[in-house]
Amino acid sequence: MAPRQSEIRNPQSEISPAAPAKGLGFITTALSAPVTPAEAALRPLSFSDFTGQPKTIERLQVMVGAAKKRGEALNHILLSGPPGLGKTTLAFILGHELGRNVRVTSGPVVEKAGDLAGLLTNLEEGDILFIDEIHRIPKTVEEYLYSAMEDFRLDIMIDQGPNARSVRLTIPRFTLVGATTRSGLLTAPLRSRFTLQTRLDYYDIATLDTIVRRSCGLLKVEIDAGGAREIASRSRGTPRVANNLINFVRDFAQERAQGRITQPVAAAALELLEIDAAGLDEMDKRMLRIMAENYRGGPVGMSTIAVAVAEEAETLEEVHEPFLIQEGYLQRTPQGRVLTAKGYHAVGLKPLSSQQGTLL
Ligand SMILES: Nc1ncnc2c1ncn2[C@@H]1O[C@H](COP(=O)(O)OP(=O)(O)OP(=O)(O)O)[C@@H](O)[C@H]1O
Ligand SMILES: [Mg+2]
Repeated sequence: MAPRQSEIRNPQSEISPAAPAKGLGFITTALSAPVTPAEAALRPLSFSDFTGQPKTIERLQVMVGAAKKRGEALNHILLSGPPGLGKTTLAFILGHELGRNVRVTSGPVVEKAGDLAGLLTNLEEGDILFIDEIHRIPKTVEEYLYSAMEDFRLDIMIDQGPNARSVRLTIPRFTLVGATTRSGLLTAPLRSRFTLQTRLDYYDIATLDTIVRRSCGLLKVEIDAGGAREIASRSRGTPRVANNLINFVRDFAQERAQGRITQPVAAAALELLEIDAAGLDEMDKRMLRIMAENYRGGPVGMSTIAVAVAEEAETLEEVHEPFLIQEGYLQRTPQGRVLTAKGYHAVGLKPLSSQQGTLL
């Protein structure tokens, strides 16, 4: 059934409000809250300003260079990866490097084909449409996106009953930049329409160190090498977390250490936030502890863990689990999540002997 289209409007060119932050833990809040103006001020604006993700950057630079030389719109790009690694930042950098506008919307906000039509027809040739959380776009809208991406046209139904008719809209050649924290949830037809699919990885400590010093420079915060290292190593590979930690550590330094961030100052501030030396927060630890104490280390399903820690499974899967897996605290098996020896140690417990491979 064709969706009814009685109005065409452009509902959103601003970043849509993210789900309200809930649950405990600084990390959960930092990564599920909407971007604050203070954070936006720290966004790198060009490739040269952006640190890390060398493979993705090189791929994007190649595409941008070629599109500029041919005077064509950039091909469609899908950016995936955990929250806070720079997907939105890169979309804006692409716009900046190409000298084009970037329109921002988000999957759940584009409810009807008319919403999509409104967005697309307002674009200029070569503009970028950034769709955040593109895996959450409704299926009915997704089908319209196919022809928009491929043929730069939209056939939409207007009116109902005897007056119903299909209208073909030609849209400017635009670039779709999609971002998703869950690329596995994207349908194959949508995924295949992106020329480049590139995944952002967690940043290493040296790169985060550079990012921390850059942000402190912009904020005019005094920090020494030890202080930068301490914040970098507790930022769980994520620039957004690093920037949020800097904000707190800055306040702490101002109140307790004459405004200067050193290693002991940063460490004390982050202890106060209950972020440990490896970057784990209370929610991470609750997950690990529950698996150890109530489920003998697993396998246990994420929805069970979610109920036990009173947080939504989706948040745990997007925010906490990828880091815990990447760092080897957890493993994902077809039967469910399994705690590793490192996971036991992180919460001060000993692995069950059967899990160490020794016979009882
Ligand atoms: N490579 C980088 N160098 C410096 N700062 C960065 C970098 N990547 C991200 N940041 C900072 O981290 C913040 C978060 O990045 P961004 O909003 O682009 O993440 P995201 O991947 O879109 O996250 P989400 O999935 O939650 O929307 C930005 O405000 C920016 O200041
Ligand atoms: Mg984003």
